[in-house]
Amino acid sequence: MRRRRLLFSLLLVAAAGLGTAAVPPPGASGAAGGEATPLDRVIPAPASVRGGGAPVTLGARTPIRVPGGSGEARRIAGHLAALLRPATGLAFPVTTKSGRDGIVLRLGGSGTGGLGAEGYRLTSGGRAVTLSAARPAGLFHAVQTLRQLLPPAGRQGTRSGPLRIAGGTITDSPRYSYRGAMLDVSRHFFTVAQVKRYIDQLAMYKINKLHLHLSDDQGWRIALASWPRLATYGGSTQVGGGKGGYYTKDDYREIVRYAADRYLTVVPEIDMPGHTNAALASYAELNCNGQAPPLYTGTNVGFSSLCVPKKATYDFVDDVIRELAALTPGRYLHIGGDEAHSTGHADYVAFMDKVQPVVAKYGKTVIGWHQLTGAHPAKGAVAQYWGYDKTGTAERTQVADAARNGTRLILSPADRAYLDMKYDKDTPLGLNWAGYVGVERSYDWDPGRYLDGAPADSVLGVEAPLWSETLSTSAHIEYMAFPRLPGIAELGWSPAATHDWDDYKVRLAAQGPRWDALGIGYYRSPEVPWPAR
Ligand code: ACM
Repeated sequence: MRRRRLLFSLLLVAAAGLGTAAVPPPGASGAAGGEATPLDRVIPAPASVRGGGAPVTLGARTPIRVPGGSGEARRIAGHLAALLRPATGLAFPVTTKSGRDGIVLRLGGSGTGGLGAEGYRLTSGGRAVTLSAARPAGLFHAVQTLRQLLPPAGRQGTRSGPLRIAGGTITDSPRYSYRGAMLDVSRHFFTVAQVKRYIDQLAMYKINKLHLHLSDDQGWRIALASWPRLATYGGSTQVGGGKGGYYTKDDYREIVRYAADRYLTVVPEIDMPGHTNAALASYAELNCNGQAPPLYTGTNVGFSSLCVPKKATYDFVDDVIRELAALTPGRYLHIGGDEAHSTGHADYVAFMDKVQPVVAKYGKTVIGWHQLTGAHPAKGAVAQYWGYDKTGTAERTQVADAARNGTRLILSPADRAYLDMKYDKDTPLGLNWAGYVGVERSYDWDPGRYLDGAPADSVLGVEAPLWSETLSTSAHIEYMAFPRLPGIAELGWSPAATHDWDDYKVRLAAQGPRWDALGIGYYRSPEVPWPAR
């Protein structure tokens, strides 16, 4: 596989008229100074790349064309222009007139039928780079690919020649429909602006789900009309005792809208029946003994539980899921279910038997952490696997059995996909209960063959969770997510046949200057051949 990709690179370099001496050096961003980045040098790796023909030159008068474009296609063209103008110093006027030159965005029409809901084609030749897709999400993903074929944003001052896009064709569509990232906004609260910043970063790598962990022992982060103290009291602190915070419904709608504009769907999680101290502290009647515990600002897990026999619990659950479902355009609603160490097994099963139908009643599909497979997963339910190398065979088998019985899986193995695990012993942030997770370890596994006994087609996708016990700023988020997040994004998008660490690490290295230009303070892992700064 590696040999085939190298061959592509050689062909592309040759086609770009740059000689056949070698592939670009490790970490070369390629697009500065008039060189063209080979079409296969992007993350996630495209499903298919055919290099050939002369590169396309973009210059001062190059338009972005949306011939006869729908409002949505025009909006995406505007998004592209807004990205390219600062990155290139060029004007990139947007026009609905057709023509033979420029960056052309085509939505629907001939040749797009096989591209699916998120696929796209990028054709570069003559005087035009044409992005085609059947659906707007595909066009948006094509734009993200094109960005990586151009110089890093903000680096126009270092560009010494015209911009060139290598000739050839990318035909691309995702391996999995669920490509998620989770942000824990409970242990530390993150503002709407901080969440938006992360959404922009996720969109660059074609992540299409933002899972928000909205409640936990340390904080309840969404205002609900039926139980207002959940947010006003339960959201009033965080790990370490800071002031916490919560999203009003309008805040939350703004996050949902911002994500949707970037073709990400928000998956809200209310973690139950454990991880509920913030709720229990807010309403005494939710406790079996009728007494509200104090707010909690530590980092222990497994000490809280909703009161399974009590009617008030199900009034609460119904109200919470009803209000949350009404705010959620996406199909999934996550009910947690992990680490319910203070809930007896029979109670756990009884609780999940009662709660899953409530999610269905409000029109949503259940996602639960994989402990849900120890109860009775509802028809159509999705289990999110977060085990690691020390997870016992019985637990793995339980999940695989459920998968064979129709439960679909999102894979988030903690020693691969958890972005809050330390990279190594010197990492100043994060946790290490699942071990140290270096960049290669995070990337080098196959979701389709990960869990013994689980059918490959039970895998709905992958997700990279980011728990925030030790993280409280965007800089913290970015240090842990970069450079590992793009690897999980690639596992979710790219065909298994493209997986190759030696190839990937070179493509990853080329992202470094992009992150520098965007102000993303990533971890310069020694595993990756970053270009010198
Ligand atoms: C988890 O990490 N407790 C899902």
